[in-house]
Amino acid sequence: MNLRITPVTRLVGEIEVPGDKSISHRAALFGALAEGRTEITGYLEGEDCLNTLAAVRALGVEVTRKGEGRYLVDGVGLAGLTEPDNVIDCGNSGTGARLLLGVLAGQPFTTVLTGDDSLRRRPMGRVAEPLTRMGAQVAGRDGGRRLPLAITGRRPLRALTYRSPVASAQVKTALLLAGLWADGPVTVEEPALSRDHTERMLAGFGARLDVAPGRVTIGQGGRLTGQPIAVPSDISSAAFFLVAAAIAREALVTLRHVGVNPTRTGVLDVLAAMGARVRAEAPSAGGGEPASDLVVTSGPLSATEIGGPLIPRLIDEVPVLAVAACMAAGTTRVRDAAELRVKESDRIAVIATELGKMGARIRETPDGFEIEGGTRLTGARVRSGGDHRVAMALAVAGLVADGPTLIEDTDCIATSFPGFADLLNRLAGGAPVAVAA
Ligand code: S3P
Repeated sequence: MNLRITPVTRLVGEIEVPGDKSISHRAALFGALAEGRTEITGYLEGEDCLNTLAAVRALGVEVTRKGEGRYLVDGVGLAGLTEPDNVIDCGNSGTGARLLLGVLAGQPFTTVLTGDDSLRRRPMGRVAEPLTRMGAQVAGRDGGRRLPLAITGRRPLRALTYRSPVASAQVKTALLLAGLWADGPVTVEEPALSRDHTERMLAGFGARLDVAPGRVTIGQGGRLTGQPIAVPSDISSAAFFLVAAAIAREALVTLRHVGVNPTRTGVLDVLAAMGARVRAEAPSAGGGEPASDLVVTSGPLSATEIGGPLIPRLIDEVPVLAVAACMAAGTTRVRDAAELRVKESDRIAVIATELGKMGARIRETPDGFEIEGGTRLTGARVRSGGDHRVAMALAVAGLVADGPTLIEDTDCIATSFPGFADLLNRLAGGAPVAVAA
């Protein structure tokens, strides 16, 4: 599917973006491993998280849909998963695949995991290698580093202290989950703090966790108990509207009940540094995750520097922040973000190429880019590269460009944000986003 974006001058209204993708995956998986029932509300019904629900079903867990975003997961406990009778397809989801590998490392059977073209290109060695050290057997393409992978678990797994070379919540979570079946503590150290949803939610389910700066340990012998989980709206999805409203000629947009876990709010820090007008209102907390309404109005932006420990706190928001940088006065630099090259696409290359087609003055570097802002963007024919966040970032760019923009290959938006176009159209009071031939 292609989308045609017509520029708009005004965005006004209140919306609620769908549930957090990271928290939804975890709720499904931890609920499956718990004893008793986990009732999830606000579950993200995007393809990625639906694939994770299908995976836990394939492993013998009963999941019942009770309404929009509302699921009952009847957990089978740490010893209750059963061998699936077919390959499990994680679709586009790196989180789904890597977290499942952690779970499967502790199962006394063999499972084959695969994914779509993008996921089969992405590195799995970062998880497979430490899991192998713990005693799991992983075989597959590229010496067991790319999907499809066959994983045969072992129980118990060996205890491990692992210093991860990347600040990755997926690596951290996979190893902590494997630790549920280890014969001693499993400790993960990371170079910068990645999102901590796992630490929060696993502790809520009753796991024995010890969290210290830069390291987290899961102790032996814990069990998980089913919990109600209310998933807040995804700040990574909200980010498209934060930027769209900040750069619009006229805007007043309220995003309701957005998750504002400090390990995820780098986008708010950067927008504040750029001079954007974003206010947090009506704070609430539930299930160990803070949430807030975010109110944004438009105004002039100035360039900023994005790097260091900020990167894991906004890694998924870089494509749309690049659009904000195009509209800001001065040169914005993104560095220390080489991880962007192994996401759903090589986001550094794709963003530089596609925004470049719209007239952005953007220079790619090995670990980021430099954007000279303040020039007008021009509508163009661009491609998402099959990457949902790139597709949505280009749509935001199209809203402020001169002339229409045609974005090719936008089906991928459904992986994380079904309803994106409808919400944007609602705020614009028309149909700036339309399906095109
Ligand atoms: C995620 C962690 C991040 C992020 C991804 C979701 C998670 O990936 O980019 O969209 O839910 O743990 P990495 O762990 O690879 O940094």
